[in-house]
Amino acid sequence: MHDEDRIIVRHGGPLRGEVVIPGAKNAVLKLMAATLLADGEYVLRNVPAIADVGIMSDLLMSIGVTSTWEGPGRLRMVNAGQLRPVAPYELVERIRASINVLGPLLGRCGHVELSLPGGDDFGSRPIDMHLKGLEAMGATFELRHGVVEATAERLHGAEITLEFPSVGATENILTAAVFAKGTTVIDNAAREPEIADLCQFLVGMGAQFEGIGSSTLVIHGVERHELHSTDHAVVADRIQAATYLAATAVSGGEVVLRGARADHMEMLLRRFRDMGLTITSIGDGTNPGDGLAVWAQGRLHSIDVATLPYPGIATDYKPLVVTMLTVADGVGIVTENLYPGRFRYVEELQRLGADIRADGHHAVVRGVPRLSGAPVRAPDIRAGAALVVAGLAAEGETSVAGVHHVDRGYDDLVGRLAALGADIERASAG
Ligand code: EPU
Repeated sequence: MHDEDRIIVRHGGPLRGEVVIPGAKNAVLKLMAATLLADGEYVLRNVPAIADVGIMSDLLMSIGVTSTWEGPGRLRMVNAGQLRPVAPYELVERIRASINVLGPLLGRCGHVELSLPGGDDFGSRPIDMHLKGLEAMGATFELRHGVVEATAERLHGAEITLEFPSVGATENILTAAVFAKGTTVIDNAAREPEIADLCQFLVGMGAQFEGIGSSTLVIHGVERHELHSTDHAVVADRIQAATYLAATAVSGGEVVLRGARADHMEMLLRRFRDMGLTITSIGDGTNPGDGLAVWAQGRLHSIDVATLPYPGIATDYKPLVVTMLTVADGVGIVTENLYPGRFRYVEELQRLGADIRADGHHAVVRGVPRLSGAPVRAPDIRAGAALVVAGLAAEGETSVAGVHHVDRGYDDLVGRLAALGADIERASAG
């Protein structure tokens, strides 16, 4: 009897077959927020069935945009033009991406009340760069009782250099700039593929961008009547794709990842090849049958890895890489450059017999031949998925609690792994 869901996983034979990679959480949530910019009916395709999409739907519903599932992966959203630019604490505290309503609402309504955001709890995650960028465009902010009140008559274009390529700050500034008077230039912009996806979505709505996918983004402001709703397929999730690569890496086997975009994961694929995986691209990632094929045989080799903003190795891959290193041959040093506190899952991996020493930004991982199953708890989305992968590499049974974290970002992780032959099931509460 458990009072919460758990994922039960055991080491088994090699994984074989095909897995379809769903759309990216960190793209779809931003696209949903961007529907605040223009009235009309939107259809988003390749939408992952994850809890965070539901939370973002609730937040947008409270502001005035409705979302309805029209079928698997297909979300219809309607912005009927009656917006209440208030993001209440009960909704905002549940996901970091709620901060993404700030840019669109400021551009569209000229006024926003936003409770300060929550999301995963790794160290402090300030929004100073978001506010500084929007201030340069003419917005003013007041912080009262945990609520940011933002005001702008009409935003104007500005030249903004980010001191760090923050994903969220880049997104808020670029969405606000869509309606600004004149041209906005964002230098040192974040270049994650999910940001390019957001820009493409906005271009589909009539916005004018130059430099999409580069670190200098240029946004030419348009008038209200020039923007309209659109249909869009969400970019494939590179983090979910990496999860199936890691699962295959520790189990052995041969798996095809349909929809995965090799061009969005180049650095990671290079390092995974260094660890001994054979990975080939199928097509260029733009057709439905395209993707990646991975073949894993024998023990992985250790490597050293440092996380960096895109195109570097994403911090979100790190728990997976650390998990692979726990059973690799040799010693690997992992350096975290984004979030100081993001090594909490290390203690959980240690419960499974991993030999890891973590200190500040660094972890030294000495591979052991096999982990040993135990009850563990997921501290956040990515670490949760990594613990499931660790369970595949562990003798006996591993039971992962804190599954609600995994549900926030993974579309049926258990079903997808089971379909590849993994010995895994979800034990429901009760
Ligand atoms: N930062 C500041 N000031 C700011 C903004 C960011 O100091 O104004 C710092 C943060 O505290 C952090 C670093 O800069 O240390 C990176 O933050 P960034 O703004 O780039 O990240 P984010 O937009 O908050 C997104 C993803 C994260 C992912 C990071 C880095 C979403 C909803 N979240 O967060 O994804 O780890 O980029 O790639 O897109 C996840 O999906 O599990 C997740 C946590």
